[in-house]
Amino acid sequence: MNEQQRKQMSQIREANPADVKSDQDNLSRIKEKKSEDFIKYFETSYQPPSLKDAKKRGKEDVEVHYDFTIPEEMIGLGSGKKFMIRTYGCQMNEHDTEIMAGILEEMGYVSTNETKEADIILLNTCAIRENAENKVFGEIGHLKPLKTENPDLIIGVCGCMSQEESVVNRILQKHQFVDLIFGTHNIHRLPQLVKEAMFGKEMVVEVWSKEGDIIENLPRSRKGKIKAWVNIMYGCDKFCTYCIVPYTRGKERSRLPEDIIQEVRHLAAQGYKEITLLGQNVNAYGKDLDMDYGLGDLMNDIHKIDIPRVRFTTSHPRDFDDRLIEVLAQGGNLLDHIHLPVQSGSSDVLKIMARKYTRESYLELVDKIRTAMPNATLTTDIIVGFPNETDEQFEETLSLVEEVGFEAAYTFIYSPREGTPAARMKDNVPMEVKKERLQRLNELVNKQSAEAMKKYEGQIVDVLVEGESKKNPDVLAGYTERNKLVNFIGPKSAIGEIVKVKINNAKTWSLDGEMVEEAAEVN
Ligand code: 5AD
Ligand code: SF4
Repeated sequence: MNEQQRKQMSQIREANPADVKSDQDNLSRIKEKKSEDFIKYFETSYQPPSLKDAKKRGKEDVEVHYDFTIPEEMIGLGSGKKFMIRTYGCQMNEHDTEIMAGILEEMGYVSTNETKEADIILLNTCAIRENAENKVFGEIGHLKPLKTENPDLIIGVCGCMSQEESVVNRILQKHQFVDLIFGTHNIHRLPQLVKEAMFGKEMVVEVWSKEGDIIENLPRSRKGKIKAWVNIMYGCDKFCTYCIVPYTRGKERSRLPEDIIQEVRHLAAQGYKEITLLGQNVNAYGKDLDMDYGLGDLMNDIHKIDIPRVRFTTSHPRDFDDRLIEVLAQGGNLLDHIHLPVQSGSSDVLKIMARKYTRESYLELVDKIRTAMPNATLTTDIIVGFPNETDEQFEETLSLVEEVGFEAAYTFIYSPREGTPAARMKDNVPMEVKKERLQRLNELVNKQSAEAMKKYEGQIVDVLVEGESKKNPDVLAGYTERNKLVNFIGPKSAIGEIVKVKINNAKTWSLDGEMVEEAAEVN
C-alpha cells in the first residue's frame, strides 16, 4: 500500500469508523473498483497480513460486542446448499469451527461430510508446526479438481495459517482457485465474506492483523450433546520464542465472568455432562479485566453449577497460582487432571524459550499440586530439538518426565516458525538427533502411561460414555475423570451417561472393561 492510499484509508476510518470493515474493503473503495487485472491488483496494492503488526500490544481496551447479527439479505444465501469445514489443530480451532458452522446454518446451509456434495468448503488451519501447514497445502491441492468440476464451489482458507503473510502470498500465487481467505479475527464477518465470494470475481482476502476484540453472541453448532467447549479467553501475551500463537491469535483478552457463567449454566440446562474451559493460556484469565478475579475465582463459581465435569486447558506453569490450586482441591465437578505443558526439563533451554520458569520452580509447582490433590493426574507438552539443545539438556527433560511421573505427553520436534525469535537462532542439532530424542522420549512416556494404566486393572471407574467405539460398534467408549479412554461392553442406553465400569485389562493408551452397578472406588 502506498502512502497516499494509507492516508485515504485513515480518512475513511475517521469519517465513518462504524463502517470500516477491513483494509481490503477500503482498498476497493479507494481504487473505485477500477477493472484492474486481479494479479496486478494484489501485486501493487494488496496489504497482506502482518505478523509484525500482530505482535504489537497496545493499551486500548478490548471491545466486547454483543450485537452480532446476520444481515437479512444473507440469511437465505445458503438455502438448499451444503457446507463442509475441515479442522486442523487445537481445541480452539475445533470450537471456532462450531461457531462457523453455527453462522452457516443460520444462513441456510446444512452440513455435509462429503466434499463432492459441498457448495462451500472451509479449511480451518493450524500454524503451530510446519507439518500442520504442509497438510493443509496438500489438501488445497486435492480440492482443485472439485473446483474445476464445479466452478460455483466456494473454497475458503481460515484459521491461524491465514494470519501469516507467507501463507497468504503462496495461496495468491499458486492456488488462485481459492475463493476466500479470512483470519482468526474475521470469523464474525463470515456472512459478508461468503456473499462477496459468491458474487465477486476476485479472491476475497480479509485478514486483520490486530490485537482482537471479543464478539459475544455468535451462534454455535456444537458437535455433540455430551461435551462442550467454552472459551474463557482468547489470544496469548507470553511470546514463548518458538511459538506463533501470540501473532496469529492476538492479545490476551478475557471474556467477562458473567458471560462465561451464563453459557455454562445454559449448557448444564441443556443436559451437557462435561465442559472444557478453553484458552491459549487459561491461567492468565482475568489479568486483563479491571477486577480482582482470576481463573481460581471463575472455577470456584463454576464449581457451584450443576454440571458433572469441568476441565480446563491449556495451563501455563508461570501463572498457575495458589488460589487455583485451593479451588481445584475442592474436587466435586472440578476434575483432578491437569495438563501442564513443561516444554523442556532444562532451565537453560526454558530460559531461551522465554518460558519464565525454571525446572526447579516447575517441580515446586508440581509438589504444591500433589500436596493439595494427591491423586491428580499430570500430563504435559514437550518440545525436543530446540535450537542447540545439548544431549545433557535433553537428558534433563527425560529425568523431569520421570520425576513428575507424567501419565501422557504430547511430544514434538521443534519446528521453526517464520517471524518468531527462535526461527532466527542458528541450530546445530541435526534432524537425525532430534528424531532419536523424540523416539527416546516417546518410549519413556509410553512406559509411564502403560504403568499408570496397569494400576486400574480390577478397579471400578466412572466413565462418561461418548458413543460406540470407533473400531467396534458393539463396544462403547468414554473417558474417566482423569481422561483415560475406556472401551467396554454395555447397553447403548448408557451413551451420554456417567456409568461405572470395571476394568479388566489395561493397554498403553486405553482400558478395557465391563459396565457394573457397584459404587465407584477409583476414578
Ligand atoms: N515447534 C514445535 N512444537 C511447538 N509447539 C508450539 N510451537 C511449536 C514449535 N514451533 C508445541 C508446544 C505447545 C503445543 C501446543 O505445541 O509444546 O505447548
Ligand atoms: Fe504459545 Fe507460549 Fe502462548 Fe502457549 S503460552 S500459546 S506456547 S506463546
